[in-house]
Amino acid sequence: MICAVLFDLDGVLVDTNALHFLAWKELADHLGIPFTPEQGNRCRGISRMASLEIVLEQADRTYTQAEKEQFAAEKNRRYQSMLEDLTPGHTTPGAGSVLQELKRRGYRLALASGSKNAALILARTGLDRWLDAVADGTLITRSKPDPEVFLTAAGLLGVPPQQCAGVDDALAGIQAAKSAGMMTVAFGEAALHRAGEHNIQTLEELLPLFPFLEATP
Ligand code: G6P
Ligand code: MG
Repeated sequence: MICAVLFDLDGVLVDTNALHFLAWKELADHLGIPFTPEQGNRCRGISRMASLEIVLEQADRTYTQAEKEQFAAEKNRRYQSMLEDLTPGHTTPGAGSVLQELKRRGYRLALASGSKNAALILARTGLDRWLDAVADGTLITRSKPDPEVFLTAAGLLGVPPQQCAGVDDALAGIQAAKSAGMMTVAFGEAALHRAGEHNIQTLEELLPLFPFLEATP
């Protein structure tokens, strides 16, 4: 029986994917490298350094590790300055009310995100109040599709992975939740690929999947 729901952040609870794209695009423009929306899409769900490799795909020279680290830091500065404008109004439609309703139904809720900016985003949007645990990029060494972040979230909740569902908008995220042995719910982009056991386009569609849990006597 499922008793915990683990949420990806970027592209599921908050539409930050567009901001990630803009920040990478600014960096690519600065370096004089073409960067397309298709490449931006492939950056979903994967780590900052893995995303940078996609951004540099069309470069006509190679870069040293030190240069790459400097580029990733530069992108993050641009991204964080965009996050300063984030408010509770920037959450995905239904995010707050669906999290609140799942809690009312007895589910434990956690974040399972590879972002190192998750705490900042949760605080600025007010989503942190609904979560019982937060597993993010600061706690893991292997990013999705590795199951580490989902397993870390389940561990923080003290719930066995088989009793967890993972909700993610990236193919890498659905693969990660699947490898963790969890029920998978693909949202948005990943749902278009029918990647999950359940595939949804709005967060409200989660509610029929998670009925009230019986109170334990
Ligand atoms: C999520 C996003 C990715 C991003 C990664 C790292 O997985 O979907 O696009 O690259 O987090 O985020 P960060 O905020 O630490 O750069
Ligand atoms: Mg995502």
